[in-house]
Amino acid sequence: MLQDKKVLFSGMQATGNLTIGNYLGALQNWVKLSDEYECFYSVVDLHSITVRQDPAELRKRARKLLTLYIAAGLDPDKNCIYYQSHVSAHAELAWILNCFTYMGELNRMTQFKDKSSKHADNINAGLFTYPVLMAADILLYQADVVPVGIDQMQHLELTRDIAQRFNSVYGDVFTVPEPFIGKVGAKIMSLQDPAKKMSKSDENPNASVYLMDDPDTIMRKFKRAVTDSEGVVRYDEEKQPGICNLIDIYCACTGKTKEETEREFSGKGYGDFKTAVGTAVVDRLSPLQAKMADLEKNKDYIDQIIKQNAEKASYVATKTLRKVQKKVGFPERVR
Ligand code: TRP
Repeated sequence: MLQDKKVLFSGMQATGNLTIGNYLGALQNWVKLSDEYECFYSVVDLHSITVRQDPAELRKRARKLLTLYIAAGLDPDKNCIYYQSHVSAHAELAWILNCFTYMGELNRMTQFKDKSSKHADNINAGLFTYPVLMAADILLYQADVVPVGIDQMQHLELTRDIAQRFNSVYGDVFTVPEPFIGKVGAKIMSLQDPAKKMSKSDENPNASVYLMDDPDTIMRKFKRAVTDSEGVVRYDEEKQPGICNLIDIYCACTGKTKEETEREFSGKGYGDFKTAVGTAVVDRLSPLQAKMADLEKNKDYIDQIIKQNAEKASYVATKTLRKVQKKVGFPERVR
């Protein structure tokens, strides 16, 4: 491992169909960061089973997500792209960190409150300790930075608290990670309700644009996107949240700024603007979709990446885990 680069860790769940929110908000930023940092990007399948999954479907989606990381431009020779479930250290460290996390802290997590009201029939202990597993993910790799969406900030704060708590008892064991929130596209909202985040699991099919949607579908969804009656393309979060979201999407796809976008569409109507946003998204996604199709044909190549990167991740993670086990007083392994 290169010692001079800082370490970055992030992960995504393979549940539901991925949306442009996942790509423009997260993956695209990951690609930009991948030169500057030593990166670990995990498909966090252990997290996924905190809600019931269809096994075949989960396996398929996890593979798709891992392939997508590569299709989006993360070089698997430089970035460690792997399945969380292939590195047992995650579960092992999570157990230890569970013993350093308070019920009260976990009770305050808004995602737990949300998810337990959505899945009232299955409020399992895993759902409750989900943030501890996330802390283990990050701390195992001694990550300096963690790119996350706003919705994960609370979990990251908890990770920092757990790391500091552990360090204060045992000395400097963990690097205390910093959040990294991207400037553009940190949060892409639903096309049907700009107060809600665009979600992989929205029941309204017009609310989300999926990464694998074809051009016609994409254009149709943007034409139907909810706007307002102001009639000007202007970034006004109070009065025009729908238009703000479309501007964010447009900027994330084209690299233009909000001001440039407002100027470009001054005097033009919503119809023109929606068509332009749709086209920008289609242009952005088509090379990605082509790359994805290519990679999916190449089974051996992907298999080899899965194997090699799991080994690399295990090597780094186990080093931290052994240190932690020693600190808390587990007997040393006889070699
Ligand atoms: N909880 C994150 C989410 O739902 C996914 C995740 C799991 C993660 N482990 C992580 C993100 C570690 C960043 C770092 O989006």
